[in-house]
Amino acid sequence: MTDMELLARAKEAKNFSYAPYSGFHVGAALLCEDGSVYTGCNIENAAYSPTNCAERTALFKAVSEGKRGFAAIAVVGDRGERVTPCGVCRQALAEFVEPDRFRIVMEDGRGGAWSAYLKELLPYAFTPDNLKSVSATKKD
Ligand code: THU
Repeated sequence: MTDMELLARAKEAKNFSYAPYSGFHVGAALLCEDGSVYTGCNIENAAYSPTNCAERTALFKAVSEGKRGFAAIAVVGDRGERVTPCGVCRQALAEFVEPDRFRIVMEDGRGGAWSAYLKELLPYAFTPDNLKSVSATKKD
């Protein structure tokens, strides 16, 4: 699947965006290494903090259905411009992907695609590796 095709899937998902408070509609499409695609949109809430971003919607849908091994995620907003994942979404993705291989695909503002590796967007991430020393030493 090309980056433009993945962006097209993210645009379809954006149609379901529930964003009555910000008016900022986002769609995402997560490409699994087996070629399957999981889509998501942002889902806002009157209490604000329960809001879920499009990227995490797609990721959690995929993980909750047993998927592991992800290649890329496309993210789109309304304006054809670059929408980079928020810090929480970068951290959520870092749990499940190889940061120097997994790409974030975004629109470039000129009708094309632009991408970056997660490692570029979240250097020195806190990962499950950071907890290994704790689980090796803890008593209970
Ligand atoms: N949002 C996303 O869904 N993904 C992003 O990468 C940036 C922000 C959503 C959250 C909220 O519903 C709206 O955009 C404004 O922040």
